[in-house]
Amino acid sequence: MKILITAGPTQEAVDPVRYLTNRSSGKMGYALAAAAAKRGHRVLLISGPTALDLPEGVDFLPVVSAADMYQAVESQLDKQDIAIFAAAVADYTPAHVADHKIKKDGDQLTLVLEKTKDILGSARSVMNFSGALVGFAAETENLEDNARGKLQRKGCDLVVGNDVSRKDIGFDSSENEVLLVYPDRTESLPKDNKDHLAYHLIEMIEDLAPNPATGQS
Ligand code: CTP
Repeated sequence: MKILITAGPTQEAVDPVRYLTNRSSGKMGYALAAAAAKRGHRVLLISGPTALDLPEGVDFLPVVSAADMYQAVESQLDKQDIAIFAAAVADYTPAHVADHKIKKDGDQLTLVLEKTKDILGSARSVMNFSGALVGFAAETENLEDNARGKLQRKGCDLVVGNDVSRKDIGFDSSENEVLLVYPDRTESLPKDNKDHLAYHLIEMIEDLAPNPATGQS
């Protein structure tokens, strides 16, 4: 099958030398890409800047900002059977990028930010994607409720939730422990390293893809 995976953080330029970003390492998305390629799928990884090596056998589209990632996904989504949105996309970006390095003129500096486009949230409604759609929810509280809200709002078949307030799992760690929120049920997977977890997740996500012969899941 053809699988698109978004990964990593995005970088939102403030001026020519500064940007806003977040603590995503990209490890979970890259581990998913590696696992999917190992299972024989054609994988397209669309990633913001990370320090990671590209997994073997994966097609790669590097991007920088949330707007770049939106465009890259929009141009590729109709060719995919499955889309997994593991990127930590900036929700807000500077309304204006300064042409020159901002000088420290005052004691305070106010940056005006505007909302970025929700890529996952546009997959069904704007990009008309009809394949299996998987989102991630990185939360610090009410994990299951927040993940279920995202599942419903964004039209996903599965939302993988993780608690990023815990130091031992998530963003910077090699391990993760996730909650799988489906439209009709919730399952939890025990703590595991991201590579094992990714392999297991890909096996489960394969079952969500519409069957090409019948159009049914
Ligand atoms: N996502 C995306 N594009 C964005 C923001 C998020 O594709 N601009 C995707 C992430 O890759 C992830 C999921 O949406 O799969 C996370 O959603 P999130 O931003 O946490 O959810 P919201 O419903 O926007 O809620 P909030 O930020 O208020 O928690």
